Amino acid sequence: MSRLKLGLFDSGVGGLTVLHQVLKRHPNHSYIYLGDTARVPYGERNPREIRSIAGEAISWLRNQQVDALIMACNTTNALAYDIALKISGVPVYGLIDSAARCIRAKRVGVLSTAATAASRAYTLQIHRYSSQTQVIEQACPAFVPLIEIGNFQDPRLRIAANLYLAPLLAANVEIIMLGCTHYPLLEPLLRQLLPSHIQLLDPARALSKRLDQLLGIPKRTVHNSINSSKDLAVCRFCVTAASETFAKAAINFIDYEPLVEVVSLRSESCSH
Ligand code: DGL
Repeated sequence: MSRLKLGLFDSGVGGLTVLHQVLKRHPNHSYIYLGDTARVPYGERNPREIRSIAGEAISWLRNQQVDALIMACNTTNALAYDIALKISGVPVYGLIDSAARCIRAKRVGVLSTAATAASRAYTLQIHRYSSQTQVIEQACPAFVPLIEIGNFQDPRLRIAANLYLAPLLAANVEIIMLGCTHYPLLEPLLRQLLPSHIQLLDPARALSKRLDQLLGIPKRTVHNSINSSKDLAVCRFCVTAASETFAKAAINFIDYEPLVEVVSLRSESCSH
């Protein structure tokens, strides 16, 4: 299989958790990652703004001649998936549909941004595959700004996590979906606060498996570390505003300090 170029985008560091899962499974391809750090967070914006921003990011990636688009952001996946299908001109892979296909539980909690929760995209998608599942969507507005700062010891994260988990625990959920790509970075904290029988589900795992249809079934899946894949994968990192935390966060996922380019999406703007 020849090397394909895949484009991913998110508001900031969150989509790196998606890149991480994809690289583990499909290391022999080339990836271009766009972090819209000038406009993070997306999750507090209104749907019209989110659709317009998504249109710019998708157009920019299309102009980089990607072979497929990964929506590494649940908020734009929830509100602008149709735009991606319409303007990208390449196959589009989303997190929400990928995760919804895997759900066979009675009660599922979804932690997400306010915009994703308000869209009810997770409930709608899960009900397409499992109509009896009760879905409780919980907005977590405090998480993304704190995660972007990169201090995971900040006590405000634990306070917010306790608050957001309470309704899901009260509803006795079996699975908690990490419905924002920033949240896998909080997995150690969430795990501490949750009873062990509750499963935490990162939609990026399901998405990386769905990519098999495009990229082929990996001969050997690289577990837990992508060290051995760093020589194979080619990754280009772009942001819309200089961000020290971005490069630092990226090191955790790709094991070397990447060169991060600052790009402008303005010329790609179009209305939707
Ligand atoms: N990481 C993104 C998501 O999955 C966006 C978070 C934000 O910028 O609010 O929704």
